[in-house]
Amino acid sequence: MALPSQSEEQIQDREFLRDVLEGLGRRQKALPCKYLYDETGSRLFERICELDDYYLTRAEADIFSKYLTDMARRIGPAALIVEPGAGNCKKVQQLLRQLDSPTGYYPIDISPEILMAAQGRMAAQLPGLTIRAAVGDFSDPEAWTGLMDFPACKKVVFFPGSTIGNFSPQHAEDLLAFFKSMLQPGDGLLIGTDLVKDAVVLERAYADSEHVTAAFNKNILVRINNELNADFDLALFAHRAFYHPLRQRVEMHLVSLKTHSVHIAGTRVYFEEGETIHTENSHKYSVAGFNCLLGKTGFTPVCHWSDIQRRYAVHYAQVN
Ligand code: TRP
Repeated sequence: MALPSQSEEQIQDREFLRDVLEGLGRRQKALPCKYLYDETGSRLFERICELDDYYLTRAEADIFSKYLTDMARRIGPAALIVEPGAGNCKKVQQLLRQLDSPTGYYPIDISPEILMAAQGRMAAQLPGLTIRAAVGDFSDPEAWTGLMDFPACKKVVFFPGSTIGNFSPQHAEDLLAFFKSMLQPGDGLLIGTDLVKDAVVLERAYADSEHVTAAFNKNILVRINNELNADFDLALFAHRAFYHPLRQRVEMHLVSLKTHSVHIAGTRVYFEEGETIHTENSHKYSVAGFNCLLGKTGFTPVCHWSDIQRRYAVHYAQVN
């Protein structure tokens, strides 16, 4: 095994370095999207959700406001709400208020800063509710072990924001099957998906006129510069988002604007002009397509709610 170079030894997060070099060593260069979410990334992401062009958040919020009582009735009394990737925990609050004596709330997130701030806020706003936050990767069973501290009750996984769309169809299937493995028959899943629609509307949502999504995408290069001793020139990369109709997804890339090379912890990486780094996908579903995915992973679709323009859907499903 080769000894690491001097600059490699100084790197704290070896896993980050390994993932970055592995991803940039592929023919289609890629970076794992989980690295988009450091503290800056998470804050930029919150700003994306408030953009006019980014219709998803508003469409989903409209659905929740309009059908909240129906959703609470489907979930029933004394439920424990589990939220993988909870972030600032804002979306769940009106649901928790509407529910009939919920047993508790269990948010899971990789960002401790955002999670701890949210936990403090929620304790003040929802007194009497038992909250236990877990810091970790929600696809890791370890992050779910704290659920054992709650009394046995009906659990409902709350997964809004079309986050399931950021997984490839195979990984989405694996993730839903994993959620199911953490649940019992009769437990629920309340999950949001962005629906298939016109490419222009989709592309505007991911390449907004205020360039916040561009800043969010480029933040991954800022992180690599800061944390992995690299020299990416941000001016040499442009944000690009396009809808791929066959794959039913919006793809996000960083395009190299000229042929050049970058150093990352002593390793040189070459970029052709026009070559891209693939950073994120956002898959779009039809209601029928998503029901099929639910069925494959051990859930029975119970019902779904949509906005008038049918841009977005919230589904309720139960474990068989
Ligand atoms: N899940 C949402 C979506 O697919 C939010 C999201 C995740 C997002 N990663 C993103 C939005 C990157 C913009 C850019 O739209």
